[in-house]
Amino acid sequence: MIEHRWATPISYQPVAGWADHVLDLKAAIMAERARSEQGNLDGNSHNVWDWPHPSVTWLREGMSEAARLYLGERGAAIDSIPSYWGRAWGNVLQSGRGFSYHSLHAHHEADFFAVFYVDAGEAEEASGALALMDPRFLNNTHLMNRENRVLIQPRTGWLLLAPGYVWHEVLHYHGQQPRISIACNYQYSLLRIKD
Ligand SMILES: [Fe+2]
Repeated sequence: MIEHRWATPISYQPVAGWADHVLDLKAAIMAERARSEQGNLDGNSHNVWDWPHPSVTWLREGMSEAARLYLGERGAAIDSIPSYWGRAWGNVLQSGRGFSYHSLHAHHEADFFAVFYVDAGEAEEASGALALMDPRFLNNTHLMNRENRVLIQPRTGWLLLAPGYVWHEVLHYHGQQPRISIACNYQYSLLRIKD
């Protein structure tokens, strides 16, 4: 008998009520970019969760609930999880200004990370996908593994959750309209997975 192991939980779905909030979130992110005079926003220079916007509160609570369900599906003892989240930061990708891609990295410091797409930009533009790599790293070079990455196409109002050990990159985005997302690392110091 052959058992298949090492499945990786990936969640990608819309956050309920997103249409009422994404314009406010976009305005807040673009104002911060203008204020900081950065092509992109440095994740170390701000924490979106500190911003006094009702839509930020909505997103924080929506992402926290999605994270709770995500962990619940993995069998986590969700009643024991403290309400804690790490810093959240904004990302702006735009062809010809600042960043148009993010190179390969992982979020080792996090149990899992989340990306909420505030504005997919030129949605018809197939560039700028988020590429999630097979975490069985050597398997990326193995002939048996023909799908060694999954491409996530940004969709306005959708939220991605993935384990922090999943290496990922954002492929070059060729759109002129800004593609905006808010990312967050989730760290649960008391996380327990049920047997
Ligand atoms: Fe990342």
